Order: sequence, then C-alpha cells, then structure tokens
Amino acid sequence: MDRTFYVTTPIYYVNDVPHIGHAYTTIAADTLARYKRLCGYDCFFLTGTDEHGQKVEKAARETGQAPLELADRVVERFKGLWDALHITADDFIRTTEARHREAVTALYQRVWEKGDIYLGDYEDWYCTPCETFWTETQLAGGNTCPDCGRPTERLKEKSYFFRMSKYQDALVRYLEEHPDFIQPASRYNEILSFVKGGLRDLSISRTTFTWGIPVPNDPDHVIYVWFDALTNYITAAGFPGDEKRFQQYWPADCHIIGKDILRFHAVYWPTFLMSAGLPIPRKVFAHGWWTVEGQKMSKSLGNVVDPNQLVKEYGVDPVRYFLLREVPFGIDGDFSRSAMVHRINSDLANDLGNLFSRTLSMVVKYFDGVIPAPSNLQDVDRRLQEASEKVFPLLAQQMDELAFNKALISIWEMVSAANKYIDDTAPWTLAKAEKDRPRLGTVLYHTLESLRLIALLLAAFMPSTAEKMWSQLGIEEQLWEQNIKENGTWGGLEPGKKVVKPIPLFPRIEA
Ligand code: MSP
Repeated sequence: MDRTFYVTTPIYYVNDVPHIGHAYTTIAADTLARYKRLCGYDCFFLTGTDEHGQKVEKAARETGQAPLELADRVVERFKGLWDALHITADDFIRTTEARHREAVTALYQRVWEKGDIYLGDYEDWYCTPCETFWTETQLAGGNTCPDCGRPTERLKEKSYFFRMSKYQDALVRYLEEHPDFIQPASRYNEILSFVKGGLRDLSISRTTFTWGIPVPNDPDHVIYVWFDALTNYITAAGFPGDEKRFQQYWPADCHIIGKDILRFHAVYWPTFLMSAGLPIPRKVFAHGWWTVEGQKMSKSLGNVVDPNQLVKEYGVDPVRYFLLREVPFGIDGDFSRSAMVHRINSDLANDLGNLFSRTLSMVVKYFDGVIPAPSNLQDVDRRLQEASEKVFPLLAQQMDELAFNKALISIWEMVSAANKYIDDTAPWTLAKAEKDRPRLGTVLYHTLESLRLIALLLAAFMPSTAEKMWSQLGIEEQLWEQNIKENGTWGGLEPGKKVVKPIPLFPRIEA
C-alpha cells in the first residue's frame, strides 16, 4: 500500500445537533473512503467538530454551560451518529484539542513571518449568527445578511488582517491551471469570477468574544473561527510536528463540503496555504442542500430530520442508499418519507433483495446449498459476464467524479441484468428434468457469481448489506480485504463451497 488518499468532511459546529445534512456529507465521505480502501489505497478519512467561536460561546451561555461542557456533550451526539451510520473515520478532530491549538498557532506564525498579517481597524456590517462581516453592496434588503436573512449591525473593532488581496493573481492562476480543483464545474465558474472580481484583505482576529485560540503575542484577540477551523485539515495530517506523516498525506485529495461553505474552502483556505508555503488540496467538492418534504429544514419549523430516527425506522443501509441514490451529488434535493419508502421497496426489497433470496433458495433447494460448477457456456451466460465486468471500470470513473448516484445506477443495471438473466433462463423449469441439471448448475453459478460481484461493488455504499451477502454466499475471505481490481473479475466464486439459506436483506415497508 503506497498510494495514499486523504478525504475530509467539514468539521461540524457543536451549537447544533446532527441532522441529515451532516449525515449526508459524512456518508458520502465514508463511501468514498471505503471505496478507495477497496482499491488498495492507504486511506485517511477525517471528520470532527468545530468548537470555537461566537456561535458556540453564545449557545453555551444560553444553556448555562461552559463552552467546552457544551462541546463535550454534543461531540458524543456526533460520534454516536457516526457509529449508527457505520462511518469508518480514521480520526475525529476537535478544535479544542492541544494538537490543533499548536497547528493553528504555527500556521498563524508562518503567515505572520511572511509579512501577510497587519493590525488594522475593521468596520462593516456584521451578522452575529453567521459570524460574518458584509460590505454594504453584499447586504440583502433592509441591511439583512445575504446568507441567513437576519438583521446585521454596524460594528467596528481592532483586528488583525490577512493580506488576501496579495494572493488574488496567484489564486486566479491556480484556478485556471487546475480546472478540476473545484467541483461541480458550475461552482468552479462561480468561484473564479468571484476571485477575478477582487479579493479584499480578510479580518482574521476578533476581540468581541474570548472563546477561541489566542493570537500569538496579542491575547486580547482570538483567531477568527474560519482560520482556526480550516486548519483542522492539516492538524490531523501531522502539521507542524510530524513531518513524515504530513508529507505522506498532505495535500488532501478531497475536501467534501456543502455549497454554503465553498468560498471558505476555495478562496480563503488556498490563500492561507499559499502564504504559509504549503501545498493546496487537490479537490474541493461542494454538494447541494436537502430540503425536507419540500421545505427548508429549520429548528423553527420543527422539521429537522434526526438521522438516528431514520436508522431506527429503516435501517442504516437504506438510509445511506437513499441519500446517495436519490439526488446527484452537487445538486439540491428533497427528502421525503414517501420517496424513501419507494426506493426501499422497489430498488432494495424488490430488485436486489428478491434476486438474492430467490437465487440462494434455488441453490439450497436444488443443490443442497452447494455451489454448482458451470459448463458449456451459452451466449446468454457470456452476456451476463460481460455486463458484470463492464461495471467496474465505469464505477471507477464515476467514483472519481463523486457521482455516487450514477455509480448506484450502474450497479443497479447489473442487478437488472441478473434479474433478466434468471427470467430468460428459467431455472425453475430446468429443475424439472434430470438431463437439464448441468445447465441448471451453470445458470445458478452465473447468478451467484454476479451477486458476489454486486456485493463487492456495493460494499462501499451499503457495508452491512454487502457483508450479509458475502457471508451468505459462503465466501471465506474477508470482504474488507478484497481488492476491487483483483477480485472484481469474473469467476472468483468457488464451486463446491456452500451457501446458506437466505435471510431477507430488506424487509418491505408498508407505506
Ligand atoms: N463548522 C463549519 C465548517 C468548518 S469546515 C473547516 C460548518 N459547520 S456546520 O455544522 O454548520 O455545517 C456543516 C456542513 O453541513 C456544511 O457542509 C453544510 O453544507 C452541511 N449542511 C447543513 N445543512 C444542510 C442541508 N440542509 N443539506 C445538506 N447539507 C447541509 O459550516
């Protein structure tokens, strides 16, 4: 294992409890990480929590807790949800950890030594909930925040500034030379024209609250929460102390984020890194937002979907499947119970679940569970084989593009091909005549082998379903030790081994 792959989620604010928006990013990152591991990469998958800043300080005050007390509690909610969703993060970073404070201080110091930080006066329109200053021209009607719509106020404070304007040309050049840096492409264009429109220096310290990492040599200031938060990606990669590890994993291969925080990742972050002389991440992918039953998800509407509840009702894999299958990654989508139930019943219970259980039942019934050997192949057999082998390179390309829904569609094409194969070959008819027994064995071998390949393809998306399929198919090798390239070719299933009586993969859900 020499090739590394470093994938991250945003670090989540601890002033809020986890909802499907958070689950979405983390499931996507987990799927990518699992897929890359199955491709033989030494994968490093990072998630965590963003614990400093005014929002967290305020939320703690409102509930009569110290900020860290609040954080300690909410962190458990996130960790619990990640367990429930079978998330395989290799590290969980909290910005209140000592290793992170050290990294933020070191990064700040480097930028300072470069001469890119100066003390100035900052005055502008400030949105407290978003912790963002806005210029007059950016404000929405009635001096409200263009992001959240709430009122802003005029605020002036002493602040340290980062000379972001100095990096405008370098960033434009970088973007033009790396057209794949920001995805989807529409977002790339948006950022490129934003940068070309002019970069202002960025205020990177605050004096209006204290919950943060102090500015080195001026403890009246705390470091702006986004400078602090973005640094998490290098903290976990070993910056500044572990040079070897840092060389190994940095730059990150992919930051997966929501569209609302793209500017921080695609403009601020690269310019901080340029100033510090550190490499820039390879890709930032901004996904879309979920509404719920057609409405914006919000605490005040009381329609925030708790992913734990969904897992309890539908099971973990159906939740993972639905979120990645329903909407192209990068586009906004709507979550509804009816859509979810429909997907579970039609794609999971009918298409895949039935295919699996009817195949295994026939092997148990006609061959006592022993996997038959194939012989005398016909065209219909070869077509199934070709259909299966075709999916692997296609999936590789789709996973590179983070086109999770397309990848699932490709896998389902294979599921359909296997279903059609059974219908065309009608093993139940072959079972009636002793002379057709070799043909029956060939047909069932082919169906079983395509199910093995389907399990391998599905493993990253629906890990426990794939595990169940794997063990019921009687395969002794560990699923997670498979290599998609080496084991994803036709013929891996060994005749003579025994499958078990199927246990339904997905119970149907009554609407
Ligand atoms: N703490 C910052 C990120 C710092 S990263 C260095 C933050 N945290 S957050 O908790 O508010 O949001 C985290 C992620 O959740 C964002 O990527 C955001 O896009 C995502 N989502 C929040 N609501 C969402 C939906 N309704 N739908 C999809 N994703 C959503 O921002």
